[in-house]
Amino acid sequence: MQQTLTQIDLIKSFTSEGLESKRFDKVAQTNRKDLIDAGRNQAIFNPLIDGISYVGTAIILLLGAYFIMHGQLTVGALVAYITYVAMVQTPIQSFTRLLNQLQQALVSYGRIQTILKEEPTIVDDTDPVAFPTLKTGIDLDKVNFSYDAKDNEKRDEPTLRDISFTIPYGKTTALVGHSGSGKTTITRLIDRFYDLQSGDITFDGVPIKKIKMADLRRHIAIVSQDVFILDGSIKDNILYGRTDATDEEVWQVIEMADLITFVKQMPDQLETQVGERGVKLSGGQKQRLSIARALLKDAPIIILDEATASLDNESEKAIQHALDNLLKSRTSLVIAHRLSTIHNADKIVVMAAGEVVEQGTHDSLMEKNGTYAGLYNAQFE
Ligand SMILES: Nc1ncnc2c1ncn2[C@@H]1O[C@H](COP(=O)(O)OP(=O)(O)O)[C@@H](O)[C@H]1O
Ligand SMILES: [Mg+2]
Repeated sequence: MQQTLTQIDLIKSFTSEGLESKRFDKVAQTNRKDLIDAGRNQAIFNPLIDGISYVGTAIILLLGAYFIMHGQLTVGALVAYITYVAMVQTPIQSFTRLLNQLQQALVSYGRIQTILKEEPTIVDDTDPVAFPTLKTGIDLDKVNFSYDAKDNEKRDEPTLRDISFTIPYGKTTALVGHSGSGKTTITRLIDRFYDLQSGDITFDGVPIKKIKMADLRRHIAIVSQDVFILDGSIKDNILYGRTDATDEEVWQVIEMADLITFVKQMPDQLETQVGERGVKLSGGQKQRLSIARALLKDAPIIILDEATASLDNESEKAIQHALDNLLKSRTSLVIAHRLSTIHNADKIVVMAAGEVVEQGTHDSLMEKNGTYAGLYNAQFE
């Protein structure tokens, strides 16, 4: 139900309400059947327990009557005996019901345990070091990576193969290539969401695995392709970059990200609620919000992964200045769809099918007339 409700636009536009109802129907049917089964078992089990104790009492009465008639037992003793039996029966009955509840709890406990027992696969080094003060930059050296490296059988098609390039300190490095060539995967490795399988990524010579993870991530601001918006106010969403920032600083980044006209015209200004997953914002507004958040984080390394892809040409131009400001004195990796936006990057790395195929400046790559020139010409023809 949660999935269908959050995807309601998709379902409506593909008029798949019927299909979804049927799917829900099937799940509901299974649930109904299971509940009936459980109910039937209880309906058998509970009277059975009660029945056994009643049969027990009946046997005692019959035997008691027999013994009384033969003068081997007094009526008083029988009454006392039955009273004692009843006192023992009640706890036994409660105990069997408790067993029932215990069984249900054990199932739930088992499920929670599988989550609690999940060991993080990416962990800090036993003796981690602080993030170094960058002077030279980030170096990728023969990086090989595959998402499904754990199941060793299917490793013939790694996502990244022998990736080597540097992201020089204080410069803008652009990463281009067709979609699916592995650009986003590289950003995930730099932020250590995944560990690489061979090769290394070093920050001023310090291997990524030696650096304290939280410290590493504090020094990197990512504006990703999939914008992440919290249910809350505009301010909450921007403060996520640095929770101790003042309102003044928040306004400053809003202005830099070209969101100020929008925020100013809202009656609640910074407190404007964005709705669940930002449903009350346009695609471009969400993207600008995530740029503002990254601006506030004020990290020395910036990664823009198609950060301006959902902006129209005009809004892109409007925030280009902000982005230029953001990138100016920082070490940055920019992935852009529109090659016009990266054409004055200090360095361009071209990827194809998980490999680096060319690198250089715009002019040198155009002169080479290879993959980059092909991509560039295709966009401007
Ligand atoms: N989380 C993931 N699990 C498995 N495969 C993935 C995952 N993310 C991306 N891939 C695969 O890795 C390849 C590279 O993807 P990606 O780095 O997102 O490319 P790009 O950003 O250049 O479009 C694609 O073939 C994609 O299907
Ligand atoms: Mg991508």
